Amino acid sequence: MILIQNTPAGHCFTLHTEGTTYAFWVTESGHLEHLYYGPRLHRIEGLLETQRLKSAFGPGNTIAYSEDHPALTLEVLPQETGTRGKGDYREPMVATCDHLGRRSSDLLYCSHQLHPGLGPMPALEPGQALAMPHLGDTPDPVETLEILLKDGVQGTAYHLYYTVFYAANTIGRRMVLENTSPGPLIVEKLMSAQLDLPHSAFTLTHFTGAWAREMQRGSMPLSGGLHQLGSTTGTSSNRTNPLFLLHAPKATETSGHCYGFNLVYSGNCQATVEVGAFGSTRVLQGVRPDSLATTLAPGASLATPLAVLTFSDQGFGGISRHLHGFTRHHIVRGPWQYRVRPVLINSWEAFYFDVNKDRLLQLAKRAKTLGVELFVLDDGWFGNRDSDQRGLGDWQCNLKKLPGGLKPLAEQINHLGMDFGIWVEPEMANPDSDLYRAHPEWFFEIPGIRQSLGRHQLLLDLGLPAVQDYLFEALRAILDSAPISYVKWDMNRNMTDVYSKLSPQTPEGQGALSHRYVLGLYGLLSRLTQAFPQVLFEGCASGGNRFDLGMLCYMPQIWASDNTDAHSRVALQTGYSLGYPPSTMGAHVSDVPNHQTLRLTPLATRQTVASFGLLGYELNLAHQSVSDLKAMGAHIDFYKQWRRVLQFGDFYRLEADDFPELRESTGWMSVSQDRRQAVVGLIQGLYTPNQPELRLPLRGLNPELIYRVRQLPVQHSLSTFGDLVNAVSPIKLPKDSLRLKLAERLYPVPGEQLELVASGAVLLQGGIRLHQGFMGMGYNEQVRLYPDFAARLFVLEALDN
Ligand code: GLA
Repeated sequence: MILIQNTPAGHCFTLHTEGTTYAFWVTESGHLEHLYYGPRLHRIEGLLETQRLKSAFGPGNTIAYSEDHPALTLEVLPQETGTRGKGDYREPMVATCDHLGRRSSDLLYCSHQLHPGLGPMPALEPGQALAMPHLGDTPDPVETLEILLKDGVQGTAYHLYYTVFYAANTIGRRMVLENTSPGPLIVEKLMSAQLDLPHSAFTLTHFTGAWAREMQRGSMPLSGGLHQLGSTTGTSSNRTNPLFLLHAPKATETSGHCYGFNLVYSGNCQATVEVGAFGSTRVLQGVRPDSLATTLAPGASLATPLAVLTFSDQGFGGISRHLHGFTRHHIVRGPWQYRVRPVLINSWEAFYFDVNKDRLLQLAKRAKTLGVELFVLDDGWFGNRDSDQRGLGDWQCNLKKLPGGLKPLAEQINHLGMDFGIWVEPEMANPDSDLYRAHPEWFFEIPGIRQSLGRHQLLLDLGLPAVQDYLFEALRAILDSAPISYVKWDMNRNMTDVYSKLSPQTPEGQGALSHRYVLGLYGLLSRLTQAFPQVLFEGCASGGNRFDLGMLCYMPQIWASDNTDAHSRVALQTGYSLGYPPSTMGAHVSDVPNHQTLRLTPLATRQTVASFGLLGYELNLAHQSVSDLKAMGAHIDFYKQWRRVLQFGDFYRLEADDFPELRESTGWMSVSQDRRQAVVGLIQGLYTPNQPELRLPLRGLNPELIYRVRQLPVQHSLSTFGDLVNAVSPIKLPKDSLRLKLAERLYPVPGEQLELVASGAVLLQGGIRLHQGFMGMGYNEQVRLYPDFAARLFVLEALDN
């Protein structure tokens, strides 16, 4: 809901979402002064008078804006668009230089208008060669305020867009710069959003990492100066994800003021958080300035991607649920938006490049008996692709490995009762490929120097329409050649030597190439997803090197990490969960010892962890024991029954100050939208004996309802107890002996059970006190045996009355 008041002092704009309010106004000098962003104000009388800056003099050696406004100091004023050169010494939102060499800017209010929906996106239409992600249509109320600002120095125009996603409690911000000046305009910086908050008592939480350890959560209290986050890899990056939070230092999962930020963009991005000289905090988000920098001819314009801002006074949990809802309802679109996602098996960790039809069919048959619904043929099926050194780019099926091509294999898999999907990595090629030999001019390379390769690959110049057309046709031919219902779209190298051989060899001609690449990718994806709306696309970039809202506009899910180790995945998936819903997160059960860590974790734990994402399997089923295969089948049945809750429910991280004993384990909970069903996963880290007894906090339930709570059955094996078994066994059972193996088969050890009925009110307030933990003093079914990396699953169902 957008309110515009024409007060005697000036226009005042108030943007309400269901639970938040954002407000700013036009000062007498024509600047947009930020007034408020926080909990929803149901009445706004006095907002302007109480929140506006009151200045009588410019402090000390600050700059007085003008003789007409001698008390106005832009460095002190909280603004919506900070500029360079007029006395605001904080980082500017825009930095440009006009044809006369003028580098100062002064953005002044000109006019405003309201638009239903997302507002005009002139340069952003889908289907064109370079496209910005177009947000999906949605039943939720969405409206947009456009403010036109004129640069009082350079004469250019800025269209500022505020989109209010009412039910998602999110504000979207973007900007379009139009060069209305008579000469060329050098754009050095154009950010998507600025937020000037009135104080600096915040902690900054960010998500950094690398390959196989994406989304590691870190925090730092703000102090004076500038903190910068962002990526330089050409992707949104596993080094730093565009998601970040700014929050009260003592914010928890359930309380405390918290701001969440993200960007609908998949290339180099940047966020700066700056504590100014006068104690305020300025947040800027957008494309990394040196990746967007360009020269605009008179009449030309430049658009930024959409920045996403949200606020919650319910701590991290509140922020996450806002961002999850926003992603589910406004970012992901198409037939798969709300459709439950299939349980898949992927061939990568089973066979790597060594695929052939017989092996694949054997894997598929075994997978089918477990209940798997989608068979995914990963790398190795095309060209001369026996390793990552060659063949990438040659999108013809390798007929030696798959006689007759993809079609007969896909049909046989369909005949088994499963869907068929493939892996592609269209954005690049090995130099040892027919594609590179035929079209070296299509690749980013600086002529005359030795190129730096990543995974033996070069990047295609996706900003070129010819490259996009070629890829569209190549992919269309593959998708038309066989019944393919899923595509894993990979991107395995970061950018270097970004130089377009077909663009003018001048600084201008080579400007903003990585940005053009990203827009070209969106253009291609927009064409492909329109041509094949039923295909489920899963993004991937060496795991999570491009896990962002831009890719999610085209691909409803993304492979979160190449690290499939359940213990590593707990931190990783927890990190993602701060900003991305489980319905976007690919998560697979793989073999042990795990291929990335060589760690051993129980199958039940691997399945529990993967179930809080989109469950898949990625291992050679021929190498699994009968009992493990049985457990996989049972788990897949369970997952199918509960996956709507797990994939599309409200997600809670079960951390609670009043339940400190949970610190050695991780609790995740998904609650159905009607709050009648819930699934809880509890995953042990390293176990310490004789701790205060564990209570499991529960969240999101309806206090008025009565729930049946049930822990899924667990069974231990005698060998779990090591030599302790011999302290109680009448017959000696030496380690690794046949006798022990036989005894294990004959005497499974039942684990603790838990089944109870309780009100939502009791469960929410008190949680559940679990059984006493094992400490070597005896074992029976009243003992909770959680060795390192153990896990439990609980389900809750509301009783009818
Ligand atoms: C990347 C992906 C993996 C797998 C391989 C295939 O590393 O992240 O999941 O698809 O490529 O080469």
